[in-house]
Amino acid sequence: MSDTSERRADGPRLREALEGIPSYKPGRPAAASGPVSYKLSSNENPYPPLPGVLESVTSAAESFNRYPDMACTGLYAELAERFGVPVPHLATGTGSVGVAQQLLQATAGPGDEVIYAWRSFEAYPIITQISGAASVRVPLAGGAEYEAHDLDAMADAITERTRLIFVCNPNNPTGAAIPGAELERFLDRVPREVLVVLDEAYREFVRDERVVDGLELYRDRPNVCVLRTFSKAYGLAGLRVGFAVAHEPVAAALRKTAVPFGVSQLAQEAAIASLRSEDALLERVEALVKERTRTLAELRGQGWTVPESQANFVWLRLGERTAAFAEQAEAAGVTVRPFPGEGVRVTVGETAANDIFLQVAAAFRKEL
Ligand SMILES: Cc1ncc(COP(=O)(O)O)c(C=O)c1O
Repeated sequence: MSDTSERRADGPRLREALEGIPSYKPGRPAAASGPVSYKLSSNENPYPPLPGVLESVTSAAESFNRYPDMACTGLYAELAERFGVPVPHLATGTGSVGVAQQLLQATAGPGDEVIYAWRSFEAYPIITQISGAASVRVPLAGGAEYEAHDLDAMADAITERTRLIFVCNPNNPTGAAIPGAELERFLDRVPREVLVVLDEAYREFVRDERVVDGLELYRDRPNVCVLRTFSKAYGLAGLRVGFAVAHEPVAAALRKTAVPFGVSQLAQEAAIASLRSEDALLERVEALVKERTRTLAELRGQGWTVPESQANFVWLRLGERTAAFAEQAEAAGVTVRPFPGEGVRVTVGETAANDIFLQVAAAFRKEL
């Protein structure tokens, strides 16, 4: 027997599909000591919770000896009204990544294929591999200036084994968003039995009018599912709540695959309160969008080529210099998200944090 099989014989047999799964790398926290330090590594909202949202969570905390409302009744009602969709078209989960994992459980397994652009959200390869299906990665196109989905190549990659396609719009980590006409052309090419997941985790930050809201596209397309989250614009990353909007068979499958009681009552109440405080939250989003515009303009002024971002982060393709940049940023007081050998993703945060990042970028540029 080989070493591996002997080791396996010693303990419980685990699924082979799990071998070699890359672990999810969370963004590095801000440094605990040293000069003022900011975390620009996880695309979080830098603002603390709104007072009304905090109050609703504090009040829900008084009864956390009880299980949450498994049917998320209040949240579904609020979402249905806010987005103008029927309740049976909704499904919630522990963050939108939880819902994405449920989507895979519902559609794909060994022998199946899942298509997504690469580089894109780093959870896609992980959750695909866990499902047992094979990943089909289609490289981004458009060069350093665009770094966008190559939808023609993605449509060409569809085979009879394809079960699900992730379209990350805007794309994490490049920020590039897909114009509606282009996306519709792509959707027209996808066979009806293949589920297309429009991952719109950053939808609230989109300002390019050519980019169409996925909720408009899903209505007459039973094979389209829209993923949204409360983690980014709504500032509830720590509470873990996201949702999908899809036609009834898909939404029902998501409810079947949900971890029972996965979305806590605190998360449900916070999400409801956030939807009710949306004006105040979206004002904050607007401030971040302004900071994004300023950051992109300054980077370009420094001589960088940066793709236009429609999300709350910017992307610098640094290749071999990625790690050095991340180290210099951290030494200056901001943690960023390096993808070794490729580039860094930097969240748009507080003005002071963005200023530090811009100073690091300017100094780094001079050294090139
Ligand atoms: C594109 C994309 N989708 C989904 C998520 C998951 O967010 P959450 O699980 O917090 O809703 C993220 C988080 O970084 C993301 O970037």
